Amino acid sequence: MAQYRIAWLPGDGIGKDVMEAARIVLDAIRLDADYLPGDIGWDYWCREGDAFPLRTVELLKGVHAALFGAITSKPARAAEAELAPALRGTGLVYRSPIVRMRQMFDLYVCLRPCRAYPGNPLNFGDAIDLVIFRENTEDLYAGVEFAPVPADLAAALARASKPFAPFKDLAPDDYAISCKVNTRKGSERIVRAAFEYAKRNGRRKVTVVHKANVVRATDGLFLEEAKRVAAGYAGIPMDDANVDAICMWLLKNPRSYDVLVAPNLYGDIISDLAAQMVGGLGFGCSGNIGEKLAVFEPSHGSAPKYAGQYKVNPIATILAARMMLEWLGEQAKAERVERAVAAVIRAGKVRTYDMGGTNTTLEVAEAVAGAL
Ligand code: NAI
Ligand code: MG
Repeated sequence: MAQYRIAWLPGDGIGKDVMEAARIVLDAIRLDADYLPGDIGWDYWCREGDAFPLRTVELLKGVHAALFGAITSKPARAAEAELAPALRGTGLVYRSPIVRMRQMFDLYVCLRPCRAYPGNPLNFGDAIDLVIFRENTEDLYAGVEFAPVPADLAAALARASKPFAPFKDLAPDDYAISCKVNTRKGSERIVRAAFEYAKRNGRRKVTVVHKANVVRATDGLFLEEAKRVAAGYAGIPMDDANVDAICMWLLKNPRSYDVLVAPNLYGDIISDLAAQMVGGLGFGCSGNIGEKLAVFEPSHGSAPKYAGQYKVNPIATILAARMMLEWLGEQAKAERVERAVAAVIRAGKVRTYDMGGTNTTLEVAEAVAGAL
């Protein structure tokens, strides 16, 4: 039996192309792993009414880690229309498998490294090297939402928000409520994960991103917990910034930042900004990490128009595989993969279309495998 059991979840569209590419690199580096394929994505929704079937949930309970390609998601009405005829009108509701996976397995860390590899024509600037820790289970993504607003909640809100109650005389259908829920536990553990990472990797500071001057209750709690955690890490300075301001500062002085940590929504936003600064969708990768399981993926979606054409950039997925190696404790192999990716980018000979080249997805993977 191999040393590691890895769930292999290509999903939809280009998810399949980029996972095939990542496998070329993992095989070349001789990771001692069994790759166990799992069903996930749009086909399973259409056929079975579940994009994340129970057998895949069970598979994830028995693996060391998972590598995930991408899935297609569609709005509720479109999803219903594509169900197998026998399943239509049975009350099935589409929910994103990746959001369900994060909550089901308590994958509370979303880790997103953004490094500008020298020679990448898509870099916004040189020497950008940011690492983002996004809280992955709560905040505005808690799933506590009301539309229409139930009468008892409307009454409670009208009582609680006197004298300013612009929604006091509204009909239930005239407004909607999405709750931002942040817990002390959830805030503490994501900030601690950021500081632990900074300590292990010799990083120079941690920046806490929030909007505590306006969103006082929830972001105030997040910042308070952050300061408490920071006090335990004497060697690593902490600073903080409002989420709007950090978008400007990251563009103006990207090299002034190092590790950033944020509640779910702000983390989502700043990680797309940071990913674009180092090459965009072909480079952004993330790890969804809990205590028992970690799922690694490129940040991009299934890009249906390129599905099966082997045109898209596999580097994001290869870098996700690199993160997985590091998480498994295979530090030397992780570093070799990263150096190989950097070498291929620096040489500039093998490039997919987004980098101005004409090479295929698999040719880029072969080049990385060759550079190991
Ligand atoms: P997308 O990320 O799939 O693609 C947008 C565009 O970015 C593509 O058309 C392509 O031009 C470019 N692109 C994406 N990945 C690339 C790569 N590796 N190399 C080069 N270029 C690349 O986003 P879109 O079109 O908004 O969504 C398509 C589907 O994917 C939707 O159903 C959406 O819900 C889903 N999605 C899934 C995600 C996931 O699985 N984690 C994340 C984002 C979207
Ligand atoms: Mg996003």
